[in-house]
Amino acid sequence: MRYYHRFANDAIGLVRDRFESYGDIYYVANGSSGLYVSNHPDHIRDVLVTHGSTFGKAHSAFAKLARVLGQGLLNTDGATWKRHRRMIQPAFHKSRLRGYTSMMVIEAERTAQRWRDGGSVDLGADMTELTLRVVSRSLFSHEVANEVDAITGAVSVLQDSFSRPALLPRWLPTPYRRRVRGAIASIDEVMYRLIAARRTGSSNVASGDEQGDPDLLQMLVDVRDEEGDGAGLTDREIRDQLVTFYMAGHETTSHALTWTFFLLSQNPDAEAKMHAELTRVLGHRLPTFEDFDDLAYTERVIKESMRLYPPVYVIARKATADTCIGDYQVAAGSEVALWIYMTHHDPRWYPDPETFQPDRFVEDKTSARPRFAYLPFGAGARTCIGKTFATIEAVLILATLAQRFRLSLAPGHRVAVKTRVTLTPRYGMKMIAHARSGIVT
Ligand code: HEM
Repeated sequence: MRYYHRFANDAIGLVRDRFESYGDIYYVANGSSGLYVSNHPDHIRDVLVTHGSTFGKAHSAFAKLARVLGQGLLNTDGATWKRHRRMIQPAFHKSRLRGYTSMMVIEAERTAQRWRDGGSVDLGADMTELTLRVVSRSLFSHEVANEVDAITGAVSVLQDSFSRPALLPRWLPTPYRRRVRGAIASIDEVMYRLIAARRTGSSNVASGDEQGDPDLLQMLVDVRDEEGDGAGLTDREIRDQLVTFYMAGHETTSHALTWTFFLLSQNPDAEAKMHAELTRVLGHRLPTFEDFDDLAYTERVIKESMRLYPPVYVIARKATADTCIGDYQVAAGSEVALWIYMTHHDPRWYPDPETFQPDRFVEDKTSARPRFAYLPFGAGARTCIGKTFATIEAVLILATLAQRFRLSLAPGHRVAVKTRVTLTPRYGMKMIAHARSGIVT
């Protein structure tokens, strides 16, 4: 019981102690299936790449998610996953993402317009709202202002539910469970209505952005499995992917941005260097897709922030056959937890690991580290499909907001991590906005 209590309140401290005592990999006898816990880049490579096909997603950590996500990309395996990934991957190609970038900047600008010089900012809440607007508009273009409010409310109920321990049996109806069921029902109602409108062409607004690029919903409706049976996706399959994109795509990016502003507030030299880049590349205008490659230091800031605070801090798998991790024989049915957070804080790969040094990500330093020592987006075949989307989004949002404001931590505000589904600021992030000179026009 003490173990569970400590795990619930200080999982990182507990796991760190275990690694200190046992080395890079340890075993926990856990009911019928054992659990291997590792932080070593070679083990990560074995699980995600070398023997990637023998490690599936049927891990107990995904059981709750699956009830909401259905058969989405995040939690399926085998032929179903392969077919869907093949069909959906092109929608996330960098060239397709150009169309979303002006919307990302416009949404960030709307957030900046609400901030006042000297005013307080609830950064966690603002970044959640902003990234939800971005994911909603990427999926559904403009058509769903009212629906987005319904989806947003329901998504936050569900996100919260993933992190609550199930203390009572599942069949027992509690008011909270009724809320969760209600949230799933309202998401389903909106999603199926939007899918039906697209299928029948009865949607009375454009299904793309200003440049006429289709949104993600349109791509899911139109896509055919050219390399397979030529069939499209069913309504249920589209619903499951849409919900997956919502769940996988906003809290992660929102936390990455929140931690980044916190780190900048504590590291004025890095902040000044980033501001200098913004001035040099953008002057007083807003960023565009074309600026992304020139905002190299700003991107390094995001990368270093996701090293220190990886939104997905642990990756879970289950062995589907007897296999091995390094020298360890692993029986079919064993579960594995790869503690990315620990890998990212390991002095063997990152000297002085607790310091914020964006220049760790200049190319020659990156190539001096083991390849699997940095994986905020995972690795191997199951690498995050939204990796490029999220990186461009985070860089452009950071650039847009930081052009106009510096943020400092509100006096007395405590900062600590909380290990929910993603790595969350335990007490939120209360900050004070300071207008920078040279307001963007
Ligand atoms: C900073 C933001 C993000 C981070 C840190 C992140 C991180 C990750 C990680 C670590 C995985 C692999 C999980 C595993 O191996 O078990 C993953 C998978 C995934 N992510 Fe992301 N993600 C981000 C943004 C996004 C966005 C914006 C989207 C979509 C709009 C997205 C959609 C997905 C999907 C669908 C998968 C499952 C891919 C598959 O298994 O084929 N993510 N993400």
